[in-house]
Amino acid sequence: MKVAVKNNVHWVGKIDWELRKFHGDEYSTHRGSSYNSYLIQEEKTALVDTVWAPFAEEYVSNLAGEIELETIDYIIANHAEIDHSGALPRLLERIPDTPVYCTANGVKSLTGHYHRDWNFRVVKTGDRLNLGGKELIFVEAPMLHWPDSMFCYLTGDNILFSNDAFGQHYASEYLFNDLVDQNELITESLKYYANILTPFSSSVEKKIHEFLGLDLPLDIICTSHGIIWRTNPAQIVERYLQWAKAYKENQITIVYDTMWNGTRVMAERIAQGIGNEDPDVNVKLFNIAVSDKNDVVAEVFKSKGVVFGSPTINRGILTAVAALFEQIKGLSFSGKKAAVFGSYGWSGESTKVLGESLRQAGFTVVDEGLKVQWNPSEKNIEECLAYGRKLAKALS
Ligand code: FEO
Repeated sequence: MKVAVKNNVHWVGKIDWELRKFHGDEYSTHRGSSYNSYLIQEEKTALVDTVWAPFAEEYVSNLAGEIELETIDYIIANHAEIDHSGALPRLLERIPDTPVYCTANGVKSLTGHYHRDWNFRVVKTGDRLNLGGKELIFVEAPMLHWPDSMFCYLTGDNILFSNDAFGQHYASEYLFNDLVDQNELITESLKYYANILTPFSSSVEKKIHEFLGLDLPLDIICTSHGIIWRTNPAQIVERYLQWAKAYKENQITIVYDTMWNGTRVMAERIAQGIGNEDPDVNVKLFNIAVSDKNDVVAEVFKSKGVVFGSPTINRGILTAVAALFEQIKGLSFSGKKAAVFGSYGWSGESTKVLGESLRQAGFTVVDEGLKVQWNPSEKNIEECLAYGRKLAKALS
């Protein structure tokens, strides 16, 4: 499949409707994804990125149906991760001497993955590649989100090829932002930012300002996943600037797990108390053991405050909650407040463990937590409601 993007630029990637997990099993992709590759046919022909390895044969075969592969003058590898470089080995078997433009770190990553001696051409920020009239300008983007990551910009057509940045795991036959469901698009864009880019927020902000400082007109952003931003591409740049600055909405998210429903009852009553005190705040509850963890991470990302709950088991907390902490710790959320709760039978360490885990993950714990022994009594229910009312203020 070849789709016109603008003038002599075409999309030649792969839409992966079946994908439900990405990065191994780490990231849920309810709406599939795409691996976007672009063909630029000016006097010189450049190919920007390829696709994930399982689709290498199909990709190279489709590409060969569109052009003589030997007419590709340059391959641009904006990023070495397998979902974009996976078809390079197959492609370069067919056209082995074609130069591969990438960053110095790109050479290390590509060589580390494929152990091939390809015709690498190292580029750095500001380097240009003349395609005959139009040029590609390279902009290194280290840690957005790998050390080798890079953008490139096509003059004349004013297209930024941003690779992972501004992307979404979102399959669509209609490859452009104005043709898809806007709620789905923003939901997937935010989930992608929250789960992948949050740890690099300071680099995101710096890189965007650096790019804006180049004063290059921006008509289209061609990402490497999901849709192409051709209508008001600045909208996703503006959202990234918001998301990069300790983003929060008027939301409190309660995340818990439960064994015999005591902690669930507490969660629901705390939520009720929050809502009673502040009807404007958006309160959401997730039993993490039966919820999608990446969706929950996106909800935590949107929250001004979180309340974590677990019963005590073996002097600790339930494993589903513990696993989420491992993930959240690495994401380095900032500017978020937190509180804890949990039921217990005899020793009751869960609230202490939850508080410590939240502090380690960078949250400001505003309260040492509410503990209830055995199943909540009528009196305990009143305590949960009161705790919720207290948190409505304390987590603001
Ligand atoms: Fe889409 Fe970092 O690869």
